[in-house]
Amino acid sequence: MPGAKRCDDRRFYGRRKGRPLRQGQQHLIDALLPKLAIELPASGKLDPQVLFSHKPDQVWLEIGFGGGEHLAEQARSHPDVGLIGCEVFLNGIATLLTQVSSLGLANVRVYPEDARDLLDALPDASLDRVFLLFPDPWPKRRHAGRRFIQPANLDLLARLMKPGAELRVASDDPVYVGWALAHLVRHPAFAWTARGPGDWRDRSPDWPGTRYESKALREGRRPVFLRFTRR
Ligand SMILES: C[S@@+](CC[C@H](N)C(=O)[O-])C[C@H]1O[C@@H](n2cnc3c(N)ncnc32)[C@H](O)[C@@H]1O
Repeated sequence: MPGAKRCDDRRFYGRRKGRPLRQGQQHLIDALLPKLAIELPASGKLDPQVLFSHKPDQVWLEIGFGGGEHLAEQARSHPDVGLIGCEVFLNGIATLLTQVSSLGLANVRVYPEDARDLLDALPDASLDRVFLLFPDPWPKRRHAGRRFIQPANLDLLARLMKPGAELRVASDDPVYVGWALAHLVRHPAFAWTARGPGDWRDRSPDWPGTRYESKALREGRRPVFLRFTRR
């Protein structure tokens, strides 16, 4: 954005930990996370297909899954898709693991660090769908450089997404919605698929809700649901 302060380093500004984990959550972090966590290769690229015990038909990736409600529901309803979730907030990771365990999901892998490091390690055209749902809005202008949607990150997603792959973005923050649209509409690799207001005002049945969406609705904010296609 013209005049916005650029922030080119890879510092992560959000929270990594909240309240102490319950015993069951800690057990899942200790016993289940090591089985699902993605390790980056020391060199070269990481083929996401090989992360799953059964070769998935498609690979979908969620950046900042929070409590993992959306990721778990997508994994449950699409058993032939491999779902990769990135999240740094330990309590959110534990909440996802609870769902993976109780639903017996075999098609979820977790990157429990900054998503941008995983994105760097993935090969070109390796993702079929990407979700960025209620990213931290960083509404103050001086913090705009911390927003996930930045030209460099969009270039990265453009490299990783197959032609025709879908990018879904949701936000309840008008500043972030304007920012996301301005950057995505002007990016040559992405096409906004909306034909009318119903396409961004309403979440479709194949788009499970999240905790932040519920919070926004409770507090009287109306979320926006944006879909883009990789050209
Ligand atoms: C506002 S919360 C939304 C969580 C969830 N998507 C939802 O809708 O309920 C944003 C989440 O993104 C995570 N996040 C932000 N930047 C990230 C990054 N670079 N890599 C991984 N997670 C990130 C934060 O830790 C936080 O949990």
